[in-house]
Amino acid sequence: MKMTDEQRKALRIRVDYTNMTDKYLGNKGFSREKLTSYGALAQKAHAYVSENRGRDELFMGWTELPYNQTEIVKDILSTAKEVRAKFENFVVLGIGGSALGPTMAFNALCHLHYNDLPAEKRGGPRFFVEDNVDPVRMKELLDVIDITKTCFNVISKSGATSETMAQYLIVSDLLKKAGCDVKDHVIFTTDGKKGNLVKISAELGGVKSYVLPDGVGGRFSELCPVGLLPAAVLGIDIEALLEGAAFMDELSKCSDYTKNPALLCAALQYACMQDGKNIGVMMPYSDNLRYVSDWYAQLWAESLGKNVTLDGKPCNVGQTPVKALGVTDQHSQVQLYTEGPYDKVVTFLSVGSYKEKTLIPHGCENIPDVSFLGGHTMEELIQAENKATAYALTKAGRLNYTITLPEVNAFTLGQLLYLFELQTAYAGAMFNIDTFNQPGVEAGKKATFALLGKPGYAEQKKELDKADSDPAYIV
Ligand code: PA5
Repeated sequence: MKMTDEQRKALRIRVDYTNMTDKYLGNKGFSREKLTSYGALAQKAHAYVSENRGRDELFMGWTELPYNQTEIVKDILSTAKEVRAKFENFVVLGIGGSALGPTMAFNALCHLHYNDLPAEKRGGPRFFVEDNVDPVRMKELLDVIDITKTCFNVISKSGATSETMAQYLIVSDLLKKAGCDVKDHVIFTTDGKKGNLVKISAELGGVKSYVLPDGVGGRFSELCPVGLLPAAVLGIDIEALLEGAAFMDELSKCSDYTKNPALLCAALQYACMQDGKNIGVMMPYSDNLRYVSDWYAQLWAESLGKNVTLDGKPCNVGQTPVKALGVTDQHSQVQLYTEGPYDKVVTFLSVGSYKEKTLIPHGCENIPDVSFLGGHTMEELIQAENKATAYALTKAGRLNYTITLPEVNAFTLGQLLYLFELQTAYAGAMFNIDTFNQPGVEAGKKATFALLGKPGYAEQKKELDKADSDPAYIV
């Protein structure tokens, strides 16, 4: 669907950073001069990202996903149609970037009780994302799905992730035992040429597979087949998702951070980190946007948490992402945000118009403390609480800013995802680090290989066993 300029303008997401400034926060906020002092660095980061966009060898291929997938989208839509007609369940097997994106889009754009709806209301299969390898979870998933009526989308760029491959071994074994042809029940999303899923596909005689492009890392993969196939199976308008991303790309062309939403957010967060605000809270006031915080947490933490700059200097940078939900966490974490240490910045995700309003009826007329709610809508209530929390934080001198989605739909979600991806790339460039690697994650993967006896890891196994056998520090 192609939007008109008017529609795009009406659905443009906005960043309001008033509550980051000294105008409202006094000496706890940033002065114009202070923010301006980061302008040149932001401009340099913008130039770096613009010059290198699309470069696979730098893992910057994700920048082009809104533009280079016309044929892939057609193919995905046709596969999704078949899956919707044929299967009762669609299960994503994947972890990290392969799971957080599909979970986020599902939650944001589908009915919040989608799996409990009757089949005719859903219009597609029930949906599950199985990322963890908790054995209880696997067993209990198998209690609620009929494997013979299930399609498994195995998503792994490397095809070597223990969690995903263990899950694949379990389900393929069960499918065989149930008399199914595994090939008919799996779709792979993986590297185009190499990796174990490519080998398995060949062994099975050609599994329907989608390519996770070379220049797209796991946490930047939601807008490629990793996220697009599950979304299309759910009936989400994936073209609108990509159109939203392209719109944000267009809004982010300007190298002046005050006019580029993603660069602005990167500069604000960078300024916060330079000022010791090493905790970044994301607080959506929307159950639909709840898992945006989980997806963002991976993107932000795995990209920025680095110990060396591109020119080899030690650095130890990054910001700890914390997930909160409005209004739920007003009744728990907000106490800490308001009165605890000055080590945080809060990003609110607000919604201009919720898809439901839900009138609160009049009642309890003799009890004014309750009756004042009657006649308002729940939309008014949640928006008032959002505003009230931002106000309370600001009064307490706490940095916060608000990203508002006029409504939650595929187009605005596409904008938001692309904004955060660009923000991350800009912030990484400001720190002069490799935003797109994850040696810390790889270290854990390798230690798991060693512990479970993967060939080639014998030395590390010895080291791990030795550490295990020292009882001196166990109480
Ligand atoms: O962002 C990343 O690269 C990681 O979080 C990966 O997504 C995660 O480790 C899964 O890797 P893979 O897709 O190779 O199975």
